[in-house]
Amino acid sequence: MDINSIKGAAKVKFCGACRLCPVCNGVACAGEVPGMGGLGTGAAFRHNVQALAECRLNLRTVHSVKNPDLSCRILGLDLALPVIGAAIGGIAMNMNGAMTEEEYTEAIISGCRKAGTIGMTGDGPKPLIFDSGMTAVVREQGWGIPIVKPRETDKVIELAKQAAAAGAPAFGMDIDAAALVNMTNAGQPVGPKTIQELEYIKNNTTIPFIVKGIMTPDDAESCWQAGVDAIVVSNHGGRALDHTPGTAEVLPYIAEAVKGKMTVLVDGGIRSGADVLKMLALGADAVLLGRPLAIGAVGGGIDGVEFIINKFKAELSAAMTLTGTAQVNDVPVEILW
Ligand SMILES: Cc1cc2nc3c(=O)[nH]c(=O)nc-3n(C[C@H](O)[C@H](O)[C@H](O)COP(=O)(O)O)c2cc1C
Repeated sequence: MDINSIKGAAKVKFCGACRLCPVCNGVACAGEVPGMGGLGTGAAFRHNVQALAECRLNLRTVHSVKNPDLSCRILGLDLALPVIGAAIGGIAMNMNGAMTEEEYTEAIISGCRKAGTIGMTGDGPKPLIFDSGMTAVVREQGWGIPIVKPRETDKVIELAKQAAAAGAPAFGMDIDAAALVNMTNAGQPVGPKTIQELEYIKNNTTIPFIVKGIMTPDDAESCWQAGVDAIVVSNHGGRALDHTPGTAEVLPYIAEAVKGKMTVLVDGGIRSGADVLKMLALGADAVLLGRPLAIGAVGGGIDGVEFIINKFKAELSAAMTLTGTAQVNDVPVEILW
């Protein structure tokens, strides 16, 4: 298996839903939601990629870092590298049915596990979306993190309890799906949550609670006040609100507010190991990959996901050596130019 065969197979199976562009930057697929693109003009997706491209690394080779340490502990989980599989749901409508929902979630959950890390699963208006994720998590003895839509609070708690019963080490809520019309149209209302509602969810669940879709220091502070265990700095890959900044732009401010008090994860536009290193330098504890793993899953199933993560691992290791960074849990901002 190599990257060209994965991309070639993915291109055929996507049937145009993803064009496998040389740089996955949201330009060709702008407005394609449902699909693989960003919402509206696609600006929020593009900003994610642009913000990382504008962030530059200092090349340093006069030092003793020969074998950088990529291993890390995130939410009590020992991972081979600070890279986690992002939740992606709605395969039929977003990927032209390139795979079934079950095949996709299995590829992400099992592929991440084979590569020494963990994956997340999604949620949506059809029960199949959440249930497929749970099936994949159960198949891996609980090694996966279900992400629930910001449904009515008691429903969030009910699904979080299902995740805990399946052995999941954590669950999350993509709070940035607060205005998702296809949920409301299907009679499953979603909406924003108050600090008290977040606190209520935290106090009525037993496993760590991740809030995904935080883009301001104020919201991050509110999550911390509510007792949330981790946040994902994310704009949902540019699919929630048009014209947000890129996540790499807001991450330093959010990290300044809450880093060390709670786990800070980030996603959006991360396309290489060097991008992972930039996000760590900007203040993240670990990152999530969305579309790069979707390409791996569609093009190569479980092995395709494992291949892409291993590619990121090799690139991250090289970028650490070439910036003199010994450990992923101690990445100084000074490696940025
Ligand atoms: C087709 C598609 C479906 C998605 N479905 C979900 C979902 O069900 N739950 C969720 O939390 N995020 C979902 N996301 C957002 C991803 O988890 C992640 O935040 C985003 O893809 C990261 O950006 P990247 O793709 O540029 O890496 C979805 C993204 C895409 C592209």
